[in-house]
Amino acid sequence: MRGKRAGRGQPYSYPMAKIFVTRRIPDAGLRLLRSRGGQVVLGQSDDEAGLDRAALIRGVREADVLLSLITEQVDREVLEANAALLGVANQAVGFNNIDVETATELGIPVSNTPGVLTETTADLTWALLLAVARRIPESDAYLRAGRFKIWSPTMLLGADVGPGPDERRKVLGIVGFGRIGQAVARRAAGFDMRVLAHDPAHRDRVDAFPGVQWAELETLLELSDFVCLHPRMTPASRHLIDEARLRRMKPTAFLVNVARGELVDEAALVRALREGWIAGAALDVYEDEPRVAEGLAELPNTVLVPHIGSASGETRDRMAEIAATNALHHVIGQRAPQCVNPEVYETEAWRGRVARLEPS
Ligand code: GLV
Repeated sequence: MRGKRAGRGQPYSYPMAKIFVTRRIPDAGLRLLRSRGGQVVLGQSDDEAGLDRAALIRGVREADVLLSLITEQVDREVLEANAALLGVANQAVGFNNIDVETATELGIPVSNTPGVLTETTADLTWALLLAVARRIPESDAYLRAGRFKIWSPTMLLGADVGPGPDERRKVLGIVGFGRIGQAVARRAAGFDMRVLAHDPAHRDRVDAFPGVQWAELETLLELSDFVCLHPRMTPASRHLIDEARLRRMKPTAFLVNVARGELVDEAALVRALREGWIAGAALDVYEDEPRVAEGLAELPNTVLVPHIGSASGETRDRMAEIAATNALHHVIGQRAPQCVNPEVYETEAWRGRVARLEPS
């Protein structure tokens, strides 16, 4: 059964409309979805299990709206599975798991959950940066293994992040200067760092940001002690950090990636870490997630965490609520607050889809 189309100024409701939520999301989101009287169909309630493709397609076929996560590839086959689908609400800021171009062609609005995870993700960037520089996981493992028998002046030596005894300000290079890149830059002030940033589409943002200097990518890589990646993942940014660029970095430099794994050529990164082209890497994301490139986990100069950039309880609750709010708009044919393809609302294909809704 389909929902009703909201009239102007009418409270929205979607009696009997079906929202297919691919995997368990925080209760805050599920509660919001259920509070409007619709039907939430949960594809998978086991947090550690993925949803297989057949189940995804089946779920989409029977739903009015899809609420997806970054673990699902929402491609043409999925989008075409249901000619009446009213929208895709992705619970993530990134939406490279969705073929947005095809969604627009088919008249399907796609939404995301930007903003609320900015500070949480910037915090993780710094946690990783400090952890790899000061060898925190290695030190923790050392102690837990019972190896801390006596303090030693040469034990587990790391690198300074703030100015060391030589008073040299360390250089932080930020690649991609959107919301998260800027939040990372703000935190750098506390470490008295020199901050360089590169974002070809947004040089104005860099120039307007106090204390941050624009740099070409190659220069940034050559000068930085720490390089953090925050660009959007697009086909053009795949392997932005490839072998040649890794070789440009200083042998004392560290790479931090909390954006998307495919930004880095992971096989080249393993060689860079093994052969000392760079000093270390801290990663939250992987090229072929959840698989980690062979050799990476054996290297002591890496800190590896399982895609937890936005993983604070508060932030994930808010993300779920935003995704639910977007889904509630999709289901009644209203503009979603966080639509990534707003041009879809001008298409005949979208008008055709919402025309099937009963007016309230
Ligand atoms: C997580 O990776 C997100 O895009 O929200």
